[in-house]
Amino acid sequence: MSKPQFPALSLFLAATTGRNMTRPAYIAVAVGVAMMVLLTVHPAYEAAHHWVDAVLWACLAFFVFEWAVRLRHAYRSQRALGYSFSFRGLVDLAAAAAVPVALIAGADPQSAWLIGVVWLLKLVPGIPGLRQLRRVLVLESGPLFSVLVIFLMVVFLSSVAEHFLERDAQPATFGSVPAALWWAVVTLTTTGYGDVVPVTPLGRLVAAMVMISGLGVFGLWTGILATGFAAETRRDNFLKTWESVSKVPFFADLGPAAIADVTNMLRTMDLPPRTMIIRKGQQGDCMYFIAAGEVEVDLPGKKVQLGEGAFFGEMALLGNTTRSANITTTRVSRLLVLDLVDFRLLMARHPELGQTIDAEATRRALENQ
Ligand code: CMP
Repeated sequence: MSKPQFPALSLFLAATTGRNMTRPAYIAVAVGVAMMVLLTVHPAYEAAHHWVDAVLWACLAFFVFEWAVRLRHAYRSQRALGYSFSFRGLVDLAAAAAVPVALIAGADPQSAWLIGVVWLLKLVPGIPGLRQLRRVLVLESGPLFSVLVIFLMVVFLSSVAEHFLERDAQPATFGSVPAALWWAVVTLTTTGYGDVVPVTPLGRLVAAMVMISGLGVFGLWTGILATGFAAETRRDNFLKTWESVSKVPFFADLGPAAIADVTNMLRTMDLPPRTMIIRKGQQGDCMYFIAAGEVEVDLPGKKVQLGEGAFFGEMALLGNTTRSANITTTRVSRLLVLDLVDFRLLMARHPELGQTIDAEATRRALENQ
């Protein structure tokens, strides 16, 4: 088999077709948007306009290349239509074509390059937590819609009231309900530009009530989103941790209810090799179970490796003492972390597990003497 002539290019092409964002793509987005901003700062742009233009064209060329590579790959794997109408496909197309189309249509270059702001959309699929946010918006759509209705109700009620109370004193700003709506939205969202202000005593009273309602409405929005997000994160963590817990032999004898109970107490931690997890002499506030990978315990005169299914960090918790050794990962590892409070709960609720941990800690302490 013949070797590829440009291995770096082959790697880049594979990454471009496989992943949403490669490192060069991140750089192109950051540099492209920075140059687009510079374009609007006149003294700076005039001083270096050749460079700014050259960099903008280079970024655009990169996005056209990226789009062409992905389209070709999708065509070859008979997914051309699926890719073209997917979010990623549409964003790639917009990133590659929006500025040239504007230039060809006769827009002046300064305005055409401003459309380059769509390059930022390339970051959207890679934003962590976006899927969670979408689920929260769907699950909490009922309460969110109710708050929206309250918001609109207060906006309209207050606009009509202010129009009625202020129209004689300030006909230019409160002369019609649509004009008063601007004031209501600015006030209810707690933005408060101060460009339009009620001057009559009753008008001010209504304004005070709108301001207080604004705090309540936005407090509700924030509360609904925050609790929804927390519940969604908890559900995600539970699933991820459940999978790991069921693979750890230490928990194998537990029934499904007990596994669910233990899963609720643990959280997953993924670590690269050579990461220090425990430092000798520090206060212990959690213990760990190894779901995958390996760690090395650095004891005086020897090193002990602990693999999948083993646990560590229990001695400081049991003896209320400081850590007895340094512990570092030797490979990519997935650990299940049990915080001190949950450790006490686990010992109380599942004494059979507590005994095993206790017995191993005693054995280790004897071995270290
Ligand atoms: P802790 O003292 O909290 O932090 C260091 C951890 O190293 C300790 O708990 C044990 O979990 C682990 N450890 C100590 N001695 C040994 C040993 N001889 N074999 C395996 N693990 C050990």
